[in-house]
Amino acid sequence: MLVLGIETTCDETAAAVVERAPDGSGKILSNIVRSQTEEHARFGGVVPEIAARAHVDVLDGLVARAMAEAGAHFNQLSGVAAAAGPGLIGGVIVGLTTAKAIAMVHNTPLVAVNHLEAHALTPRLTCALAFPYCLFLASGGHTQIVAVTGVGDYVRLGTTVDDAIGEAFDKVAKMLGLPYPGGPEVERAARRGDPARFAFPRPMLGRPNANFSLSGLKTAVRNEASRLGELKQQDISDLCAGFQAAVLESTADRLSMGLKLFAEQFGPARALVAAGGVAANQAIRGALQEVAAKAETTLIIPPPALCTDNGAMIAWAGAERLALGMTDTMDAPPRARWLLDANAKAPAGFANTRAGF
Ligand code: KG4
Ligand code: ZN
Repeated sequence: MLVLGIETTCDETAAAVVERAPDGSGKILSNIVRSQTEEHARFGGVVPEIAARAHVDVLDGLVARAMAEAGAHFNQLSGVAAAAGPGLIGGVIVGLTTAKAIAMVHNTPLVAVNHLEAHALTPRLTCALAFPYCLFLASGGHTQIVAVTGVGDYVRLGTTVDDAIGEAFDKVAKMLGLPYPGGPEVERAARRGDPARFAFPRPMLGRPNANFSLSGLKTAVRNEASRLGELKQQDISDLCAGFQAAVLESTADRLSMGLKLFAEQFGPARALVAAGGVAANQAIRGALQEVAAKAETTLIIPPPALCTDNGAMIAWAGAERLALGMTDTMDAPPRARWLLDANAKAPAGFANTRAGF
């Protein structure tokens, strides 16, 4: 089974071709990602309209390259998959419309993939992981703990009530004058800093649910920074170290709770899988390792190129769905918001707009 996958939900334009064998194993034949970081850097964050236009400019070329690199012809495709959300709506429309056009012209099935589902199913492509497992997804747009129990079968165990973790790293970087994207910059600065100089709050620590909250911590960093006035290099490093230490402690606590909720509902998790750009952070990886060991499960982090947004994960999710006969019609809508566990209700009091609600 040969599937073309298209990803355009945020600031990466990506196209890939993935092959799925009848035994359920997968192989990436091509995986091309064009990041828009440069276009957005001077604004300190992703500008939706610029993102959508940049997707339009390059997507057809990327699809052609992905097909050529895979040595595939459109008439060999078993289907074409696009991320139909959640994400920035302009970009989602570009990718989904392109996939529909390809599906229509070449008379091949369309699969409208949930971007979060694609992250969730990636370890089945990289290491043939069996269900059920626990996913920790932490990127610039999402922070969720999800029980992955089957294709199309997800239970959200926890999410952020305000900012995503990557978003908080980016905002802290911005307020300290560090460049975008802020995650790697904050991590680098934190290495030279004293995590104990500032007593930042550990959000949600000990709460009986598995939710996250980052905005209070972010505000605490802002308050300290403005109290200091002119920031010296060491101040910036100490603020970053203090912020990261608080994120680590809070994340470890929230994930331990998530794994406990998982075990109560589904038995012990076969693995804890981490995905999203935040999983690149070495300190966070260390904390995840400890959490997994304590819960007596294995930590799996797909290779960096498959942790961050890419086309192969969309193609693979499409292949998993096609193998079960799940396809979509031409009226499949692009969605800015799209809950992974569509039947679940958002807990009361959630103000979040970016984490999948
Ligand atoms: O998954 P991703 O590449 O894109 C989406 O958000 O969809 O994640 C990017 C996010 C950004 O917010 C970035 O600052 C964060 O991941 N990030 C990090 C690190 N590297 C990337 N956050 C903390 N530490 C890092 N080393
Ligand atoms: Zn993503």
